[in-house]
Amino acid sequence: MISKRRRAFHASNHNSNVPGVEPQFLLGNLLQSGALSGKPYFQIFSDYQEKYGDIFKYRFGPHSVVAFNRLDHVQYIFAHRHIYDHAKLASETFSLLTPNGLIALTGAKFKRHARVMLPMFKKSKVVPYLETVNDCTDELLLQKWRADGNEKLQTDIIRQCQDLLLCIITSIAFDYDLKTAESSSPVRLAIKEFVDNFVKILLLSGTPTIFSRLYLKFNWKYQKALVVLRKEADDIIRKERARQEKEQEIENAINTKRRNLISLLVSSLNEDVGGDYKQGLTCEELLDEILLSIVAGFETTSTVLAWFIFHMSKYPAIQEKIKEELKLHNVTKKTSLTNELLDKLEYIDCVLKEVLRFSPIMDGTLRTLVEDDQIDGVQLRKGDSVYIGLNNIHRDKRLWKLDPDQFLPERFLDTDDKNQPIWTFGGGHRACAGQDLARFELKVICTRLMQSLTFLDSGDEQNSGGFLQRITCLPKRLAVYCKFD
Ligand code: HEM
Repeated sequence: MISKRRRAFHASNHNSNVPGVEPQFLLGNLLQSGALSGKPYFQIFSDYQEKYGDIFKYRFGPHSVVAFNRLDHVQYIFAHRHIYDHAKLASETFSLLTPNGLIALTGAKFKRHARVMLPMFKKSKVVPYLETVNDCTDELLLQKWRADGNEKLQTDIIRQCQDLLLCIITSIAFDYDLKTAESSSPVRLAIKEFVDNFVKILLLSGTPTIFSRLYLKFNWKYQKALVVLRKEADDIIRKERARQEKEQEIENAINTKRRNLISLLVSSLNEDVGGDYKQGLTCEELLDEILLSIVAGFETTSTVLAWFIFHMSKYPAIQEKIKEELKLHNVTKKTSLTNELLDKLEYIDCVLKEVLRFSPIMDGTLRTLVEDDQIDGVQLRKGDSVYIGLNNIHRDKRLWKLDPDQFLPERFLDTDDKNQPIWTFGGGHRACAGQDLARFELKVICTRLMQSLTFLDSGDEQNSGGFLQRITCLPKRLAVYCKFD
């Protein structure tokens, strides 16, 4: 039998044959790799892969992970959910912000929440929001740019994309109209405050959670925002409950049912959840799920939109091809988009897939082992964490027939690359819960924009791209002319 002390030593050395940089005290590799000075994570993991091969060690502060960067590794990890479960690091970090949100949960509680939340964002549930997405795009981007005058250089695209996606997700989730809300409305300010602090805490993940806990506890602006949001959510839930009760009294209620997220969620309210095995969510849990949906749903999707605009400004021929497809289906700037029409547009799907593959939006994801395992001769023990290099797979020259370092949407039309999966939303049982919603929003917004205008490159430093690491990796310098067709 191995003594406790020997076991601890053994556990930290069982994969000592895996290469990596000798870590620094407390900081791990965060300083050496450049992460603390803002080097984007995709770049760090791509450099390490080049130096150490497909499997290497990395330390997020005191948290050590073994990184896997080959397609067969990734497929194996995602397929073995009973071994590779949700990452400890992700649970710890997200518990600070939305302790009852899906992303912080594991085990029976995760399953109970997943039963309510996962169907919520499936394609059939999100397509009724076409008009909401369309109207928000018209009001927050097109009308604004038009009012600024034709061919005005837009330098604030990222914030505008974020405002748009925040507006869409809050309309869908809260039934709260951000676009008509005063910029000084308490709810609007509270959402912004909550989101900004969420981003800060995520960027601190890897450092001891006590720092983040204290930061949040003594951050009065954040605490005040939480109070406002809880009160608003309580109000919404109360009103929604009263409405649903009334609705039940009306005959033929099915036809008049509203479809916003809150109305669906309120139907799942069950204050007697008691044990973890019962159905439904409590009010407190429901609030966390709403807040999580807002944060998870807006920063990610707005980053993809920003990259789309950047790439369009750089590849006029691709924009032209999108517009040709619109013409082919008789879509003009006056055409109201319908879901049937959107289904016919295939090229824009290829462009969006290529944006998701080519732009380093999400560098990778993590899993923690719940039992011992081995991958490619590397011994892993229960409690170890693995990093899955999603972006490295997207750029793996062994995998893609057309050069993966080129932006080529045509690869998804009719080439050997056509059926290669895109990993930007992760994979397996903890893949992104909102991917159908995100894909839908992006297709509607991008089609709507292409119906009306062409993005032109500013041709100078202002539109030179680069990378800015937040929760996702954004284009650092983005400035385009919006030329109305
Ligand atoms: C383009 C936009 C988006 C991207 C790139 C993205 C990406 C991701 C990734 C990489 C993960 C982790 C997956 C894994 O570990 O395998 C994730 C998880 C998650 N995402 Fe998204 N996401 C996007 C949009 C959304 C939207 C719109 C929502 C909801 C409104 C959402 C809700 C979630 C939730 C709840 C999880 C946690 C799932 C779990 O832990 O089981 N995401 N997302």
